[in-house]
Amino acid sequence: MKESFFKVFGQRATESSDAPGRVNLIGEHTDYNGGFVLPTAIPQMTHIELALRNDNTVHIVSSDIGPKGEDHSYILGQERPLHRWFDYFEGVTWLLQKKGYTLRGFDARISSHVPMGAGLSSSAALLVAMFRVLRTTFHLPLTDVEIALMSQSVENDFVGAQVGIMDQMASSLADTGTALFLDTRDLNYQRIALPEDKVEMFIINSGVRHSHSDGGYNTRRKECEEACLRLGVAQLRDVADVSLLSSLPEPYLSRARHVVSENSRVLKAVEAIHKGEMETLGQLMIESHASMRDDFKVSVPEIDFLVEASLAHPLVYGARLTGGGFGGSIVGICKKGHGRELADAIADRYQSQTSYHASILVPELRN
Ligand code: GLA
Repeated sequence: MKESFFKVFGQRATESSDAPGRVNLIGEHTDYNGGFVLPTAIPQMTHIELALRNDNTVHIVSSDIGPKGEDHSYILGQERPLHRWFDYFEGVTWLLQKKGYTLRGFDARISSHVPMGAGLSSSAALLVAMFRVLRTTFHLPLTDVEIALMSQSVENDFVGAQVGIMDQMASSLADTGTALFLDTRDLNYQRIALPEDKVEMFIINSGVRHSHSDGGYNTRRKECEEACLRLGVAQLRDVADVSLLSSLPEPYLSRARHVVSENSRVLKAVEAIHKGEMETLGQLMIESHASMRDDFKVSVPEIDFLVEASLAHPLVYGARLTGGGFGGSIVGICKKGHGRELADAIADRYQSQTSYHASILVPELRN
């Protein structure tokens, strides 16, 4: 048990947990199509401290999630989705009780350094941190993979975002030193190290916020399902080659072409990392971005601007939109030792030409 001396509502917090956000290097919108992804954890975390109560009330307060200073209380067993920031918490206790676990009321204080709506999985970090702290508090026999699956179930069945499994697996199992090469069909994974002596990653948040419980994400998912029906396959993962898609009308052809080509890019990216070929990895990221922009249509002009501004630098190998899209962040890779200076220059150029504020998440500023 990790003892904390932080006081929650005047009581001593008895347990605490963290979970990181994630950035996806490549493999976008492939997870709900049974495909491959390559995310890694980011240094920014969500932190939860908890103190048990003697009743059935859950009282949560957060400095960073939801309107400033707003707290929320509910009674265990009476959870219901209200399309508010606290749905994530109510969803976790709802699911645990539905699975037969007995809980008791608690006070919880949440702080998060994972920016919301930035394509860096703030919601997965929140859910995984919450499941972790409850696992410890109530001695729940849950594995990290089960925590990922339950976090996805809260998103799908309570919050109403039909997201795949990548973010929750990344938050629950990835670390900042390696990329998690995940087969989302059977959840087999391998941790793969980027050649640290050669390459550095940068992440810039465009400041254009997105939300996956809004239309765009769920629409793309339905379009992929429709493409499968028309092709007579269970999942787009089952299509070996883009040449097999020619019978599809638009927009299904473009959507499916993105997914099928993206799956093969992930496999090539893993091979490139194993061989230490960073130019190849960068090129695959550039192609991935073009496919998301032109075929899957989930980019926005501000993100395209950030990607193009990145690619204008000769020390950058590649850059792309990361996460679900419709705003959010870009991830890029560049020659080792130049990440911060390049990201600063890219962010400055972005700010001088748009009305948004860009923030650099990685590399973090050193003191
Ligand atoms: C969001 C979802 C993931 C995945 C990505 C796109 O982050 O939560 O499941 O679909 O978008 O790759």
